[in-house]
Amino acid sequence: MEKTPADAVVTVRNYYKSLPERMAAVRARAARPLTLAEKILFAHKADLAAGLPERGQTTVGLHPDRVAMQDATAQMAILQFMTAGKSEAAVPTTVHCDHLIRAKVGAIKDLEVAESTNKEVYDFLASASARYGMGFWKPGSGIIHQVILEHYAFPGGLIIGTDSHTPNAGGLGMLAIGVGGADAVDVMVGMPWELLWPKLVGVRLTGKLSGWTSGKDVILKLAGMLTVAGGTNKIIEYFGDGTASLSCTAKATVTNMGAELGATTSVFPFDKRMADYLRATGRAEIASLASSLAEHLTADAEVLAHPEKHYDEIVEIDLSQLEPHVVGPHTPDLARPVSRMTADVHAHDYPAGLTATLIGSCTNSSYEDIGRAAHVARQAKARGLKARVPLMVTPGSEQVRATIERDGLLADLEAIGATVLANACGPCIGQWERSDVAKGEKNSILTSYNRNFPKRNDGNPSTHAFIASPEVVVAYALTGRLDSDPIHEGVIFDGNLLKLEAPSAAELPLKGFDAGRDGYVAPAEQAGSASVTVNPKSERLALLEPFEPVDKVAGYQNLPVLLKARGKCTTDHISPAGPWLKFRGHLDRISDNMFSGAENAFTDKPGTGFNVLTGQAGEELQKIARAYKAGGLGWVAVGDRNYGEGSSREHAAMSPRYLGCRVVLVRSFARIHETNLKKQGVLPLTFADPADYERIRRDDRLAILGLDKLTPGQKIEVKIAHADGSQERFYALHSLTSDQIAWFQAGSALNLIRTQQSR
Ligand code: F3S
Repeated sequence: MEKTPADAVVTVRNYYKSLPERMAAVRARAARPLTLAEKILFAHKADLAAGLPERGQTTVGLHPDRVAMQDATAQMAILQFMTAGKSEAAVPTTVHCDHLIRAKVGAIKDLEVAESTNKEVYDFLASASARYGMGFWKPGSGIIHQVILEHYAFPGGLIIGTDSHTPNAGGLGMLAIGVGGADAVDVMVGMPWELLWPKLVGVRLTGKLSGWTSGKDVILKLAGMLTVAGGTNKIIEYFGDGTASLSCTAKATVTNMGAELGATTSVFPFDKRMADYLRATGRAEIASLASSLAEHLTADAEVLAHPEKHYDEIVEIDLSQLEPHVVGPHTPDLARPVSRMTADVHAHDYPAGLTATLIGSCTNSSYEDIGRAAHVARQAKARGLKARVPLMVTPGSEQVRATIERDGLLADLEAIGATVLANACGPCIGQWERSDVAKGEKNSILTSYNRNFPKRNDGNPSTHAFIASPEVVVAYALTGRLDSDPIHEGVIFDGNLLKLEAPSAAELPLKGFDAGRDGYVAPAEQAGSASVTVNPKSERLALLEPFEPVDKVAGYQNLPVLLKARGKCTTDHISPAGPWLKFRGHLDRISDNMFSGAENAFTDKPGTGFNVLTGQAGEELQKIARAYKAGGLGWVAVGDRNYGEGSSREHAAMSPRYLGCRVVLVRSFARIHETNLKKQGVLPLTFADPADYERIRRDDRLAILGLDKLTPGQKIEVKIAHADGSQERFYALHSLTSDQIAWFQAGSALNLIRTQQSR
């Protein structure tokens, strides 16, 4: 049986020991019945004595129990962490190599290729993990969320992970929240992590799952009901008798895909099926402790008796009535039952012939999932029937892979033609080297993954990706067509009909899990002893130099305006992803993309600007910024409303800071980006009068006054010197707290931590 790393068990033991006392303090403070999500949030609140937070309004500091990072996002997070001067991560942290493995021919070969092409990244992550006391999961060991569920998740805990599907651990009763790298760095250096206190959606499950219906159908149905925006700034909390009808891993599928609704996270109450999963994954002690603390790991009885008083909205799903669903294309909220699929395909002219079917990923590769899919495959095998289209299987972890291999489930799938891919994200994150369909060719695929927006799986905007449960996907692999209903009508082959029996499978392996190949490297006994490996010639990685503090008077005079962003300027306009992602560990290289998607009011072509030093218009903004920087000149970026909306990517704040940005002055900010700018030492300002945006001309110089005596809430005077010799003044506002002013004075939040460290 697989053994969970010892440090993980110690963390949970300590947490549970203090839980009754923590909850007593929480109850005294809140003085009202609490939902499960509230219990967990309050128990991790940095300042419990502060005023009670208002849902959807108050931002609070929290102390998570753990941090998990995947290999793509971990690079810059660790590079930043290293500049803070800490000897080890302040909370237990793990790194998981799952995103960089391309799927092409099959598990063994694909893994070998990944190990050589990504060697410098893996060497860096492994050596930094050893140096700073973090657990390291090698390529091939599994997908971050599955590994977290198997080893680290625990009921009542709080984890942040640098990946959107971190909420997967909500299936084990944990609040698990996907964040950007900058948030992970905060927690790793010991700072409280900030969260907008969420609103709560209560989902009452009644009835029982049966037949073809699975956990996947619960979330596909809910996506159809709430839509992709239905969970924004909300936690989805499940309750009701029906919750017991889902296995722990089925619950994880549901919470995993809460991310598709934009939810902060999703969570299920602790129950026996979670305890069973904990025992099966080698954590009997945690199962017993959680069982003895169940009152703190579920919502209060009063909440369950009158949910309408305690959740902001309530949705009800009767599992007994729920049908298996298919969602898509292009969005997960386009949901319909399988029985309506054929009509929908014809009505919307979706490509009816499937070109590929894929099961597994972090969302749906549990022992139970693969067992149910294999049951469908066995029925086909018994009749000599094979999948009519390629069928690929992505196991979520080495433990799952080894166990399903030992128990013959992989063989069942291979017998109908399935290809087994590496235990990694692969086609789920577009790492699919597909040669059977040309770019631009219209085609349909069906997966049991979680995301299906255009290009997500194979980079082809014309691929129509649909999503269903693994067992439904395998059934469709047998017909090869979306305009069919293999569940109700069976599969026709050679003039015969195969009526498929509803799938059934064991929830957990009767013989226990087989750990497979060991892919885990424990944190070094003595953090600080290993050296960190970065190839100085690398194009993908470069160590970071701390950002120099800027003189608060001289450094904010005579600043040219690099960009006056017109209309929408998201983090994707500021720091586009796509091909640039391979440089995410190399700040200088990735900064070549800075503002390349931004519409500049001063030029006609996105990403270009006016160089005040040469008088030339139309040069790339990053080149102009580099020229200013070389001349010791800081600069200002001006923006419109909701500047920096989109992802929480820290590069959108780091690249401007690196290339000399002093101030970002906008009509309004997206909150997370504004905080990221503050962390990096860039001053975010908003126009006191939004109309002042119009005053800014392309050859202006700006002076920001009074920064040497900056205080919270102070109005900031801005002086514009126009090129014609005229001058104007206006006011701007800032939202820095006194702690954040200290970041600004130090040049960045991490600089401040480093100086505190060395005192
Ligand atoms: Fe993300 Fe990998 Fe899952 S790409 S959705 S973590 S399989």
